Amino acid sequence: MKPVGRNKFELDTPCLVLDLDLLDENLQKMQATVVAAGKALRPHAKTHKCSLLAKMQLAAGAVGICAAKVSEAEALVHAGIPNVLVTGPVATAEKIARLMALLRKAPFLMTVVDHPANVELLEQQLAGAGLNLDVLVDLDIGHGRTGVAPGKAMELAERVLASDRLRLRGIQAYAGNVQHIPRYSDRRAASLKGLKQAAAVFRQLQTRAESCTIFSASGTGSAKIDLVIPELTELQAGSYALMDAEYLAIECADGSECADYQPALTMLTTVVSVGHGRQVTVDAGLKALYKDGGHPRVLNPEFPNLHYDWFGDEYGKLCARSRGTLLPELGTVLELVVSHCDPTINQFDRFFVTRDGKVVDVWTIDLRGRSQ
Ligand SMILES: Cc1ncc(COP(=O)(O)O)c(C=O)c1O
Repeated sequence: MKPVGRNKFELDTPCLVLDLDLLDENLQKMQATVVAAGKALRPHAKTHKCSLLAKMQLAAGAVGICAAKVSEAEALVHAGIPNVLVTGPVATAEKIARLMALLRKAPFLMTVVDHPANVELLEQQLAGAGLNLDVLVDLDIGHGRTGVAPGKAMELAERVLASDRLRLRGIQAYAGNVQHIPRYSDRRAASLKGLKQAAAVFRQLQTRAESCTIFSASGTGSAKIDLVIPELTELQAGSYALMDAEYLAIECADGSECADYQPALTMLTTVVSVGHGRQVTVDAGLKALYKDGGHPRVLNPEFPNLHYDWFGDEYGKLCARSRGTLLPELGTVLELVVSHCDPTINQFDRFFVTRDGKVVDVWTIDLRGRSQ
Protein backbone atom coordinates (compact mmCIF):
# COMPACT_ATOMS: atom_id res chain seq x y z
CA MET A 1 0.00 0.00 0.00
CA LYS A 2 1.29 3.46 -0.88
CA PRO A 3 2.28 5.45 2.21
CA VAL A 4 1.07 8.90 1.09
CA GLY A 5 -2.37 9.65 2.47
CA ARG A 6 -2.16 7.07 5.27
CA ASN A 7 -2.33 7.88 8.95
CA LYS A 8 1.22 7.62 10.31
CA PHE A 9 0.19 4.93 12.81
CA GLU A 10 -0.70 2.68 9.85
CA LEU A 11 2.88 2.67 8.52
CA ASP A 12 4.99 -0.46 8.64
CA THR A 13 7.52 -0.24 11.48
CA PRO A 14 10.11 0.53 12.61
CA CYS A 15 10.22 3.72 10.55
CA LEU A 16 11.17 7.35 10.83
CA VAL A 17 8.52 10.04 10.73
CA LEU A 18 9.13 13.72 10.12
CA ASP A 19 6.50 16.26 11.14
CA LEU A 20 6.67 18.90 8.42
CA ASP A 21 5.18 21.72 10.47
CA LEU A 22 7.54 21.17 13.40
CA LEU A 23 10.49 20.88 11.02
CA ASP A 24 9.54 24.11 9.32
CA GLU A 25 9.14 25.84 12.68
CA ASN A 26 12.61 24.67 13.75
CA LEU A 27 14.23 25.81 10.50
CA GLN A 28 12.59 29.23 10.59
CA LYS A 29 13.33 29.75 14.28
CA MET A 30 17.06 29.05 14.02
CA GLN A 31 17.38 31.12 10.85
CA ALA A 32 15.55 34.07 12.43
CA THR A 33 17.59 33.86 15.66
CA VAL A 34 20.87 33.82 13.77
CA VAL A 35 19.91 36.64 11.41
CA ALA A 36 18.65 38.79 14.30
CA ALA A 37 22.13 38.55 15.81
CA GLY A 38 23.73 39.60 12.51
CA LYS A 39 25.19 36.15 11.83
CA ALA A 40 24.81 33.53 9.10
CA LEU A 41 23.77 29.87 9.28
CA ARG A 42 25.61 27.00 7.58
CA PRO A 43 23.64 24.02 8.92
CA HIS A 44 25.23 20.62 9.27
CA ALA A 45 23.79 17.89 7.02
CA LYS A 46 25.45 15.13 9.08
CA THR A 47 22.29 15.18 11.21
CA HIS A 48 19.55 14.64 8.64
CA LYS A 49 21.60 13.18 5.76
CA CYS A 50 18.96 14.35 3.34
CA SER A 51 19.72 16.70 0.44
CA LEU A 52 16.07 17.67 0.15
CA LEU A 53 16.10 18.91 3.72
CA ALA A 54 19.39 20.72 3.06
CA LYS A 55 17.67 22.52 0.19
CA MET A 56 14.91 23.61 2.57
CA GLN A 57 17.58 25.05 4.85
CA LEU A 58 19.10 26.95 1.94
CA ALA A 59 15.66 28.20 0.92
CA ALA A 60 15.17 29.42 4.50
CA GLY A 61 18.32 31.54 4.15
CA ALA A 62 21.34 29.37 4.99
CA VAL A 63 24.60 30.49 3.31
CA GLY A 64 25.76 26.94 2.60
CA ILE A 65 25.69 23.41 3.99
CA CYS A 66 28.21 21.52 6.14
CA ALA A 67 29.13 17.89 5.52
CA ALA A 68 31.19 15.74 7.87
CA LYS A 69 32.84 13.63 5.19
CA VAL A 70 33.76 13.82 1.51
CA SER A 71 31.19 11.14 0.63
CA GLU A 72 28.43 13.25 2.19
CA ALA A 73 29.64 16.26 0.21
CA GLU A 74 29.55 14.16 -2.97
CA ALA A 75 25.88 13.36 -2.44
CA LEU A 76 25.04 17.00 -1.71
CA VAL A 77 26.86 18.23 -4.82
CA HIS A 78 25.20 15.48 -6.86
CA ALA A 79 21.83 16.76 -5.61
CA GLY A 80 22.67 20.28 -6.83
CA ILE A 81 24.12 21.86 -3.69
CA PRO A 82 27.53 23.27 -4.68
CA ASN A 83 28.48 25.35 -1.63
CA VAL A 84 29.49 22.66 0.84
CA LEU A 85 31.98 22.91 3.71
CA VAL A 86 33.58 19.59 4.67
CA THR A 87 34.07 20.03 8.42
CA GLY A 88 36.42 17.09 9.02
CA PRO A 89 40.04 16.77 7.91
CA VAL A 90 40.52 15.24 4.45
CA ALA A 91 43.79 13.63 5.33
CA THR A 92 44.64 10.75 3.00
CA ALA A 93 45.77 10.79 -0.64
CA GLU A 94 42.77 8.70 -1.73
CA LYS A 95 40.27 10.95 -0.01
CA ILE A 96 41.97 14.07 -1.39
CA ALA A 97 41.70 12.58 -4.89
CA ARG A 98 37.93 12.29 -4.33
CA LEU A 99 37.88 15.87 -3.11
CA MET A 100 39.68 17.01 -6.27
CA ALA A 101 37.09 15.29 -8.46
CA LEU A 102 34.35 17.00 -6.49
CA LEU A 103 36.07 20.37 -6.63
CA ARG A 104 35.92 20.23 -10.43
CA LYS A 105 32.12 20.05 -10.18
CA ALA A 106 31.80 22.42 -7.22
CA PRO A 107 34.46 25.15 -7.20
CA PHE A 108 32.97 26.76 -4.06
CA LEU A 109 33.65 23.66 -1.98
CA MET A 110 35.59 24.33 1.23
CA THR A 111 37.32 22.15 3.76
CA VAL A 112 39.36 22.45 6.95
CA VAL A 113 43.01 21.81 7.74
CA ASP A 114 44.63 21.14 11.11
CA HIS A 115 48.16 19.98 10.24
CA PRO A 116 50.98 21.13 7.93
CA ALA A 117 51.38 17.62 6.48
CA ASN A 118 47.73 17.78 5.43
CA VAL A 119 48.34 21.16 3.79
CA GLU A 120 51.28 19.62 1.92
CA LEU A 121 49.20 16.70 0.61
CA LEU A 122 46.37 18.97 -0.48
CA GLU A 123 48.79 21.30 -2.26
CA GLN A 124 50.42 18.46 -4.19
CA GLN A 125 47.15 17.19 -5.59
CA LEU A 126 45.77 20.67 -6.22
CA ALA A 127 48.91 21.51 -8.24
CA GLY A 128 48.62 18.23 -10.17
CA ALA A 129 44.96 18.96 -10.97
CA GLY A 130 45.48 22.67 -11.63
CA LEU A 131 42.88 23.56 -9.00
CA ASN A 132 42.57 25.93 -6.03
CA LEU A 133 40.78 25.31 -2.76
CA ASP A 134 39.34 27.48 0.03
CA VAL A 135 40.15 26.24 3.53
CA LEU A 136 39.47 27.10 7.16
CA VAL A 137 41.97 26.40 9.92
CA ASP A 138 40.24 23.96 12.27
CA LEU A 139 40.83 24.91 15.91
CA ASP A 140 40.74 22.54 18.86
CA ILE A 141 39.13 24.62 21.60
CA GLY A 142 38.92 21.81 24.14
CA HIS A 143 37.35 18.77 22.50
CA GLY A 144 40.66 17.14 21.57
CA ARG A 145 39.16 15.45 18.50
CA THR A 146 40.32 17.46 15.49
CA GLY A 147 41.85 20.89 15.10
CA VAL A 148 45.10 22.60 15.89
CA ALA A 149 45.72 24.11 19.34
CA PRO A 150 44.98 27.86 19.30
CA GLY A 151 48.61 28.56 20.22
CA LYS A 152 49.77 26.85 17.02
CA ALA A 153 47.06 28.18 14.73
CA MET A 154 49.01 31.17 13.39
CA GLU A 155 51.92 28.96 12.37
CA LEU A 156 49.55 26.72 10.41
CA ALA A 157 47.77 29.76 8.97
CA GLU A 158 51.10 31.14 7.73
CA ARG A 159 51.77 27.82 6.02
CA VAL A 160 48.41 28.09 4.23
CA LEU A 161 48.98 31.73 3.34
CA ALA A 162 52.30 30.77 1.74
CA SER A 163 50.51 28.37 -0.60
CA ASP A 164 49.53 29.44 -4.09
CA ARG A 165 46.89 26.69 -4.28
CA LEU A 166 45.06 27.20 -1.00
CA ARG A 167 43.12 30.27 0.02
CA LEU A 168 42.68 30.85 3.73
CA ARG A 169 39.07 31.86 4.43
CA GLY A 170 39.07 31.83 8.24
CA ILE A 171 38.59 29.38 11.09
CA GLN A 172 36.32 26.61 12.32
CA ALA A 173 35.98 26.01 16.06
CA TYR A 174 33.33 23.40 16.86
CA ALA A 175 33.11 22.42 20.53
CA GLY A 176 31.40 19.02 20.49
CA ASN A 177 32.34 18.50 24.12
CA VAL A 178 30.21 21.45 25.18
CA GLN A 179 26.93 20.90 23.34
CA HIS A 180 25.27 18.53 25.82
CA ILE A 181 26.49 19.92 29.12
CA PRO A 182 23.24 19.62 31.11
CA ARG A 183 23.34 22.82 33.18
CA TYR A 184 22.89 25.96 31.13
CA SER A 185 25.31 28.03 33.21
CA ASP A 186 28.06 25.41 32.88
CA ARG A 187 27.47 25.08 29.14
CA ARG A 188 27.52 28.84 28.72
CA ALA A 189 30.79 29.22 30.61
CA ALA A 190 32.50 26.37 28.72
CA SER A 191 31.32 27.52 25.32
CA LEU A 192 32.26 31.17 25.75
CA LYS A 193 35.67 30.23 27.15
CA GLY A 194 36.51 28.20 24.03
CA LEU A 195 35.07 30.66 21.55
CA LYS A 196 36.91 33.59 23.11
CA GLN A 197 40.16 31.75 22.44
CA ALA A 198 39.05 31.19 18.86
CA ALA A 199 38.04 34.83 18.50
CA ALA A 200 41.53 35.95 19.47
CA VAL A 201 43.00 33.76 16.72
CA PHE A 202 40.43 35.06 14.23
CA ARG A 203 41.32 38.69 15.01
CA GLN A 204 44.98 37.94 14.40
CA LEU A 205 44.21 36.18 11.13
CA GLN A 206 42.15 39.07 9.91
CA THR A 207 45.12 41.40 10.30
CA ARG A 208 47.13 38.99 8.11
CA ALA A 209 44.74 38.33 5.22
CA GLU A 210 41.65 40.02 3.82
CA SER A 211 40.34 36.68 2.64
CA CYS A 212 39.75 35.60 6.28
CA THR A 213 36.10 36.45 6.69
CA ILE A 214 34.66 33.22 8.11
CA PHE A 215 34.51 32.21 11.79
CA SER A 216 32.32 29.10 11.74
CA ALA A 217 31.36 27.37 14.98
CA SER A 218 28.63 26.24 17.36
CA GLY A 219 25.99 23.53 17.57
CA THR A 220 22.42 23.23 18.77
CA GLY A 221 23.34 23.14 22.46
CA SER A 222 25.33 26.36 22.46
CA ALA A 223 23.77 28.22 19.51
CA LYS A 224 21.94 30.86 21.53
CA ILE A 225 24.91 31.34 23.86
CA ASP A 226 27.50 31.74 21.10
CA LEU A 227 25.69 34.52 19.25
CA VAL A 228 27.10 37.05 21.74
CA ILE A 229 30.63 36.51 20.42
CA PRO A 230 31.13 39.56 18.17
CA GLU A 231 33.76 37.93 15.93
CA LEU A 232 31.66 34.81 15.20
CA THR A 233 30.27 35.03 11.67
CA GLU A 234 28.25 31.83 11.31
CA LEU A 235 26.73 28.85 13.12
CA GLN A 236 27.08 25.20 12.04
CA ALA A 237 24.19 23.77 14.07
CA GLY A 238 22.61 20.55 12.82
CA SER A 239 20.39 18.78 15.34
CA TYR A 240 18.06 21.77 15.83
CA ALA A 241 16.17 20.76 12.67
CA LEU A 242 15.01 17.39 14.03
CA MET A 243 16.00 17.15 17.70
CA ASP A 244 16.35 14.06 19.90
CA ALA A 245 16.08 12.91 23.51
CA GLU A 246 19.70 13.81 24.21
CA TYR A 247 19.11 17.44 23.29
CA LEU A 248 15.67 17.61 24.92
CA ALA A 249 17.33 16.67 28.20
CA ILE A 250 19.59 19.71 28.46
CA GLU A 251 18.57 22.75 30.43
CA CYS A 252 17.47 25.95 28.71
CA ALA A 253 18.48 29.51 29.58
CA ASP A 254 15.41 29.83 31.83
CA GLY A 255 16.18 26.59 33.67
CA SER A 256 13.49 24.59 31.87
CA GLU A 257 13.94 21.63 29.53
CA CYS A 258 15.37 22.72 26.19
CA ALA A 259 12.20 23.80 24.46
CA ASP A 260 13.81 26.02 21.83
CA TYR A 261 13.35 23.38 19.16
CA GLN A 262 10.69 20.69 18.81
CA PRO A 263 11.20 16.98 18.20
CA ALA A 264 10.22 16.98 14.52
CA LEU A 265 11.67 13.50 14.10
CA THR A 266 10.11 10.43 15.72
CA MET A 267 10.28 6.67 15.32
CA LEU A 268 7.29 4.39 15.11
CA THR A 269 7.61 0.93 16.61
CA THR A 270 5.05 -1.86 17.09
CA VAL A 271 4.40 -4.15 20.05
CA VAL A 272 5.24 -7.61 18.67
CA SER A 273 5.11 -9.70 21.83
CA VAL A 274 3.28 -9.48 25.18
CA GLY A 275 2.92 -11.67 28.25
CA HIS A 276 6.31 -10.91 29.74
CA GLY A 277 5.24 -9.48 33.06
CA ARG A 278 5.49 -5.70 33.35
CA GLN A 279 6.99 -5.21 29.91
CA VAL A 280 6.14 -5.66 26.25
CA THR A 281 8.48 -6.22 23.31
CA VAL A 282 8.63 -3.80 20.35
CA ASP A 283 10.25 -4.14 16.92
CA ALA A 284 12.83 -1.33 17.24
CA GLY A 285 16.15 -2.44 18.72
CA LEU A 286 19.79 -1.60 18.22
CA LYS A 287 19.58 -1.81 14.43
CA ALA A 288 16.90 0.86 14.38
CA LEU A 289 17.43 3.08 17.41
CA TYR A 290 21.06 4.00 17.93
CA LYS A 291 22.11 3.46 21.55
CA ASP A 292 23.69 6.74 22.47
CA GLY A 293 22.45 9.82 24.24
CA GLY A 294 19.34 9.86 26.37
CA HIS A 295 16.70 7.14 26.50
CA PRO A 296 14.03 7.37 23.80
CA ARG A 297 10.81 9.01 25.02
CA VAL A 298 7.36 7.55 24.46
CA LEU A 299 5.05 10.25 23.08
CA ASN A 300 1.69 8.43 23.03
CA PRO A 301 -0.41 10.31 25.61
CA GLU A 302 -2.28 7.13 26.62
CA PHE A 303 1.02 5.53 27.76
CA PRO A 304 2.73 8.18 29.90
CA ASN A 305 4.40 5.68 32.18
CA LEU A 306 6.47 3.51 29.87
CA HIS A 307 10.23 3.39 29.68
CA TYR A 308 12.00 2.19 26.52
CA ASP A 309 15.13 0.06 26.75
CA TRP A 310 17.10 -1.82 24.12
CA PHE A 311 16.47 -5.56 23.94
CA GLY A 312 19.03 -6.82 21.42
CA ASP A 313 19.56 -6.09 17.75
CA GLU A 314 15.97 -6.31 16.53
CA TYR A 315 13.92 -5.59 19.64
CA GLY A 316 13.28 -3.11 22.36
CA LYS A 317 11.23 -3.37 25.53
CA LEU A 318 8.72 -0.97 26.98
CA CYS A 319 8.68 -1.35 30.72
CA ALA A 320 6.03 -0.13 33.15
CA ARG A 321 7.56 2.42 35.51
CA SER A 322 5.17 1.46 38.31
CA ARG A 323 2.65 -1.22 39.34
CA GLY A 324 -0.77 -0.89 37.75
CA THR A 325 0.59 0.87 34.63
CA LEU A 326 -1.43 0.14 31.53
CA LEU A 327 0.62 -1.86 29.04
CA PRO A 328 0.00 -1.57 25.27
CA GLU A 329 -1.64 -4.53 23.54
CA LEU A 330 -0.10 -6.66 20.82
CA GLY A 331 0.01 -4.65 17.59
CA THR A 332 -0.06 -1.22 19.26
CA VAL A 333 2.15 1.35 17.52
CA LEU A 334 4.22 3.58 19.79
CA GLU A 335 5.85 6.85 18.81
CA LEU A 336 9.28 7.58 20.24
CA VAL A 337 11.61 10.56 20.31
CA VAL A 338 14.92 8.97 19.28
CA SER A 339 18.00 9.03 21.54
CA HIS A 340 20.52 10.54 19.15
CA CYS A 341 19.21 11.60 15.77
CA ASP A 342 22.34 11.43 13.55
CA PRO A 343 23.33 7.76 13.88
CA THR A 344 19.68 6.66 14.07
CA ILE A 345 18.83 8.34 10.76
CA ASN A 346 21.89 6.68 9.24
CA GLN A 347 20.10 3.33 9.63
CA PHE A 348 17.09 4.23 7.46
CA ASP A 349 16.45 4.83 3.76
CA ARG A 350 13.61 7.31 4.03
CA PHE A 351 11.63 9.75 6.13
CA PHE A 352 7.85 9.51 6.07
CA VAL A 353 6.87 13.17 6.06
CA THR A 354 3.61 13.96 7.82
CA ARG A 355 1.24 16.85 8.37
CA ASP A 356 -1.46 16.58 11.04
CA GLY A 357 -0.58 12.90 11.45
CA LYS A 358 -1.06 12.03 7.74
CA VAL A 359 1.76 11.04 5.40
CA VAL A 360 2.18 13.75 2.76
CA ASP A 361 5.53 12.76 1.25
CA VAL A 362 8.46 10.35 1.40
CA TRP A 363 11.99 11.76 1.35
CA THR A 364 15.08 9.72 0.54
CA ILE A 365 17.89 9.83 3.10
CA ASP A 366 20.41 10.04 0.29
CA LEU A 367 23.49 10.68 2.48
CA ARG A 368 22.75 7.53 4.48
CA GLY A 369 25.73 5.22 4.95
CA ARG A 370 28.13 7.81 3.57
CA SER A 371 30.80 7.64 6.24
CA GLN A 372 33.92 7.76 4.05
C1 LIG B 1 31.99 20.02 13.10
C2 LIG B 1 30.55 20.03 13.52
N1 LIG B 1 29.83 21.14 13.38
C3 LIG B 1 28.54 21.20 13.73
C4 LIG B 1 27.88 20.11 14.28
C5 LIG B 1 26.41 20.23 14.60
O1 LIG B 1 26.16 20.11 15.93
P1 LIG B 1 24.70 19.81 16.53
O2 LIG B 1 24.16 18.60 15.88
O3 LIG B 1 24.99 19.62 17.94
O4 LIG B 1 23.87 21.01 16.25
C6 LIG B 1 28.61 18.93 14.48
C7 LIG B 1 27.97 17.77 15.13
O5 LIG B 1 28.56 16.84 15.59
C8 LIG B 1 29.97 18.87 14.09
O6 LIG B 1 30.70 17.75 14.25
